[in-house]
Amino acid sequence: MAAAGDGGTAGPLWSPSGRSLVVEADNANYLPTLPDGAFTLIYVDPPFNTGRSQRRQQTSMVRSADGEGDRIGFKGRSYRTIRGTLASYDDAFEDYWSFLEPRLAEAWRLLADDGTLYLHLDYREVHYAKVLLDALFGRECFLNEIIWAYDYGARATRRWPTKHDNILVYVKDPARYHFDSAAVDREPYMAPGLVTPEKAARGKLPTDVWWHTIVSPTGREKTGYPTQKPEGLLRRIVAASSREGDWVLDFFAGSGTLGAVAASLGRQFVCVDQNPQAIEVMRRRLGEHADVAGFEPELQQAGRSQAVPPAAEG
Ligand SMILES: C[S@@+](CC[C@H](N)C(=O)[O-])C[C@H]1O[C@@H](n2cnc3c(N)ncnc32)[C@H](O)[C@@H]1O
Repeated sequence: MAAAGDGGTAGPLWSPSGRSLVVEADNANYLPTLPDGAFTLIYVDPPFNTGRSQRRQQTSMVRSADGEGDRIGFKGRSYRTIRGTLASYDDAFEDYWSFLEPRLAEAWRLLADDGTLYLHLDYREVHYAKVLLDALFGRECFLNEIIWAYDYGARATRRWPTKHDNILVYVKDPARYHFDSAAVDREPYMAPGLVTPEKAARGKLPTDVWWHTIVSPTGREKTGYPTQKPEGLLRRIVAASSREGDWVLDFFAGSGTLGAVAASLGRQFVCVDQNPQAIEVMRRRLGEHADVAGFEPELQQAGRSQAVPPAAEG
């Protein structure tokens, strides 16, 4: 494995026995270098539908050398039919999905048999994503749609103000997935007078609707990265869907919220982002827990990966 500061070594950046990683790369280039089944949990919070500019960044994905066959085939005809039908009536969908779909197919490949994907979207994309993930993972692999409800910012008056995000949860194998509800923080009952004092004191298990404030503009958590998500959301996800020592992955990592929570809960993590500003924020936030490396696909193809020494960036 290449560690930050060693000037570049042969072989992949990631190793199951290595340190956690922050990687500066287009995830389309980096993900194919990771082995099948390496991660128990993948959380991704991709940029919401930003249209054609995303399409220009599209890179075709290839399976890693030890994979077999082609992804398009694994859910067969129904997958292609659904994709074709959606694409035929919505250009914006076609653009966005061309960007996201190959990366989600990689997510499927990278999940361990007991692994879980959390895809964080909003009301604009989530319905398309549900249909396509049903086809890509299998409908029986859909576990939940989590609603993250917050209450912040301006309120529209010509429609109901939209104050929630949607997180789709899919498991690789519905018979084997890891889920530990006992590890999750509990919530106060809405009507504690209706349950016993013991129950009221213990609180209740969260449902699929999570009320949680956004990252406070003046709070301890704030990194300055514009799309930063609250650690409280990620803490539930990591606690429920991974164990201590497991590897977790975020390939649209931004400020590295998944990494921060993973480190605090004793998980190993890989956080990938293509934006140098995100890497700088993650270097500050996660540097003591992880190596920080740049990834050059050209060097990888030539059998080398490149590590960027901390001093060389920013
Ligand atoms: C919504 S933000 C993620 C925020 C993150 N969840 C957090 O808590 O800070 C999406 C991130 O995806 C990154 N991104 C977009 N396209 C990418 C790509 N092709 N490869 C890697 N990162 C990408 C952007 O730079 C941005 O930081």
